[in-house]
Amino acid sequence: MIRLDGVTKVFQTGVFGRSAFTAVSGVSFAVEQGEIVSLIGESGSGKTTVGRMVLRLTQATGGTITVDGRDVATFGRSDLHAYYGSVQGIFQDPFSSYNPVFKVDRVLGMIRANYLPRLSDAEWKRKVRDALEAVSLEQADVLGKYPHQLSGGQLQRLLIARALLLDIRFLVADEVISMLDASTRVDVLNLLSDLKARGLGILFITHDLSLGNYVSERTMILQRGRVVELGPTEKVFGDPRHPYTQSLLASVPQLHVKWQARERDARTAWESADGDGTAELVEVSDGHLVALEPS
Ligand SMILES: Nc1ncnc2c1ncn2[C@@H]1O[C@H](COP(=O)(O)OP(=O)(O)O)[C@@H](O)[C@H]1O
Ligand SMILES: [Mg+2]
Repeated sequence: MIRLDGVTKVFQTGVFGRSAFTAVSGVSFAVEQGEIVSLIGESGSGKTTVGRMVLRLTQATGGTITVDGRDVATFGRSDLHAYYGSVQGIFQDPFSSYNPVFKVDRVLGMIRANYLPRLSDAEWKRKVRDALEAVSLEQADVLGKYPHQLSGGQLQRLLIARALLLDIRFLVADEVISMLDASTRVDVLNLLSDLKARGLGILFITHDLSLGNYVSERTMILQRGRVVELGPTEKVFGDPRHPYTQSLLASVPQLHVKWQARERDARTAWESADGDGTAELVEVSDGHLVALEPS
C-alpha cells in the first residue's frame, strides 16, 4: 500500500529562496494493490508534485509517505534502487522519457542491466515479448527502431511495457492519456484496467474528469494543493458535496467561457469557506470525505 499522511510540499522560490510557495498541503490518501485511484485537479493544483513525491523525485517537506509500511524519506541509494523495482512512474510526455539516439532495444536493455543482470538471453527475450504483448505492441513494430520512428501512442505503451518488465506493484500515471488520440486513449485506459486486474495499484493523475470517472474506483479532487473531496468515484461524481467539485462537474459539457466563470464562482465559494485554512475532511457517507469548515 502507498500511503500519504498529511503530506506537504513547500517550494523555496525567489532570489536565494527567500519566499516560499505551498504547492501541496496536508494531503492524505492510500492506494492499495489492485485499485486505481484518480487524482483530479486543474493545472497547477499540485498533482504532478504529489506524483513526484511518491516516486521520491522530490522530497516532501511535511508529512509522511510510506510504501508497504516503509517511509520513503528514509531511503538511501540502494533502498531507492529496490524501490524503483516495484514502483514506477509514467509521465505526460513520452518523447522526453526516451533518449533520441538510443534504439528501443537499448532503452529496454537498460532495465536488464540495472535490475535483471542474472537473466539469461532466452529469459530476457521472453520477458520483453510478454511485456510488449501486455500492451498490445508487436515486437516487429518497435524493436530496432528509434523513438522518433514511433507514434505517441506506441511510445506511451512502450513506457508502460518498460515498467512491466520490472514486475512493479505500483504505478504513478501522470496525464498519460493527454497526448493520445481518441481511439488510442480507450486502449490505454483499458490497459490500465487490465493491469489493475493483475494486482497493480495505480495512482491515475489527470485534469480530465471523464478519464478519472472511466477508470478509477476512488477519486480525489485537488484544489490548490488541498484535497477538497475524496471517495468512491460514483459518489464524488454522482453526489458531489464540495462547491468546487460541483462546479468542475457542472462545467464539463460547457464552453470555455462558461468554464472560467464557473471556476471563478467556485473559487469565491471555496475562498469564503476556507478563510483560515482550517477546513477539515468530514465523512458525509461511507468513505466519502468532503472538506468542510468546522461549525
Ligand atoms: N520546482 C518547483 N519550484 C517552484 N514551484 C514549483 C515547482 N514545481 C512546481 N511548482 C509549482 O507548484 C504548483 C503545482 O505544480 P504541479 O504539481 O506541476 O501542478 P499540476 O501537475 O497539478 O499542474 C504550481 O503552481 C507550480 O508552479
Ligand atoms: Mg502536472
